[in-house]
Amino acid sequence: MNTTRAHIHSQKFGIVRADRNKQRGHQSFVVWFTGLSGSGKSTLANGLEAALHSRGVSTYTLDGDNTRMGINKDLDFSDQGRKENIRRVAEIANLMVDSGTVVISSYISPFIADRENAKAIIGTEDFIEVFVDCPLEICEQRDVKGLYEKARANLISNFTGISSPFEAPVNGDITVQTHLTSLEDCLQKILIAIENKLQL
Ligand code: ADX
Repeated sequence: MNTTRAHIHSQKFGIVRADRNKQRGHQSFVVWFTGLSGSGKSTLANGLEAALHSRGVSTYTLDGDNTRMGINKDLDFSDQGRKENIRRVAEIANLMVDSGTVVISSYISPFIADRENAKAIIGTEDFIEVFVDCPLEICEQRDVKGLYEKARANLISNFTGISSPFEAPVNGDITVQTHLTSLEDCLQKILIAIENKLQL
């Protein structure tokens, strides 16, 4: 047994999540975007946050590139590095849900087991998985950050879709296809799906 944890006791505080949700006037949960680099996760996250924010919903977006510059800057893109990346982000998202915030997370999160772990940390009820389903060929054509070109030239190792796998969700909650559907229509689909979740 971990001797450090053996002497840790859960502290209870008077104000709980239900109080915070009531004050904000909506429920809190996580909308978890998963998909290849360049599939449109950040664009969708940005649009979703703007739509919710304009309705007075308390939101925050967690993004892979950004958290890898701070709390996760010690992590690489090995399977183990990604596992720890997703675990930490899920723990952060879980705290933010407890704070009453609707969290939008934008991570490649390529492994089913890591997304399942995130779901277990956050709670099935509060975890809405959105698969941004865009074929590798299209993401590579877009190559917004020029990373696919570098990965093909072996300048980046373990690059998702090229030299590291992406495990698509089998029973995801929502799927959007950014190569076939407009941004507005993708957002509409997500907004309709989460509408009930927002209600107190
Ligand atoms: S994850 O796989 O661990 O979930 P995360 O979403 O945090 O990845 O970070 C992905 C971002 O890191 C990409 O959008 C890309 O800009 C950058 N990146 C740098 N190296 C890699 C790599 N080897 N594979 C995928 N993305 C990479």
